[in-house]
Amino acid sequence: MADLDQFPVIPVIVIDNANDAVPLAEALIAGGLNIIEVTFRTAAAAEAIERIANKFPDMLVGAGTVVTAEQAQRAIDAGSKFGLAPGTDPETIAYFKSKNVPFIPGVMTPTDIQMAYKAGCKRLKFFPAGAAGGTKMLKAMCAPYSNLGVKFCPTGGVSLDNMLEYLAMPEVFAIGGSWLATKAQIASGDWAGITQQVKDALAKAAEV
Ligand code: 3PG
Repeated sequence: MADLDQFPVIPVIVIDNANDAVPLAEALIAGGLNIIEVTFRTAAAAEAIERIANKFPDMLVGAGTVVTAEQAQRAIDAGSKFGLAPGTDPETIAYFKSKNVPFIPGVMTPTDIQMAYKAGCKRLKFFPAGAAGGTKMLKAMCAPYSNLGVKFCPTGGVSLDNMLEYLAMPEVFAIGGSWLATKAQIASGDWAGITQQVKDALAKAAEV
């Protein structure tokens, strides 16, 4: 099973053209990141995942914004090694579990945490991290669950400027962000810019 704790940073990708998938993955790998979250928000997502999984078998390619069991099936069939969602849906969690593929459901309340934990998830996405109150909210919310072994990936409003606040928390295993490879950069083929952003983020993460 994929080890999701290896990388402190997860690039959240919205891709419109599957032809961009391989050069994009190359740009991330060149920057030092062997992980990618391709969100299921575009028609190209499944094909993009398939191309990355075929070309870079060692890359941890995951599907994001997986909100139904049907999408979960398509994501896994395409080669996703993990999945994420902004929220917690028991059917989607159950599908990933049945395939033995790790899934990171989104949480923003204590009830969400308990639902996800009950369904067997110990890696959770704190979303939308910034708007929900950032580290102050996360610290307060996860304090009662310190004995459960749950860890969080804050996403939504995370940037190069604030990522260290999150990564400094022992309960945070990674942060996610779309700034690492924006839609505009992918569309214009700014692979060098993406590689540089990844390097900057990993250098920052190493400061923890
Ligand atoms: C997500 O899907 O995880 C968020 O849209 C990413 O949030 P960001 O654009 O603020 O990084």
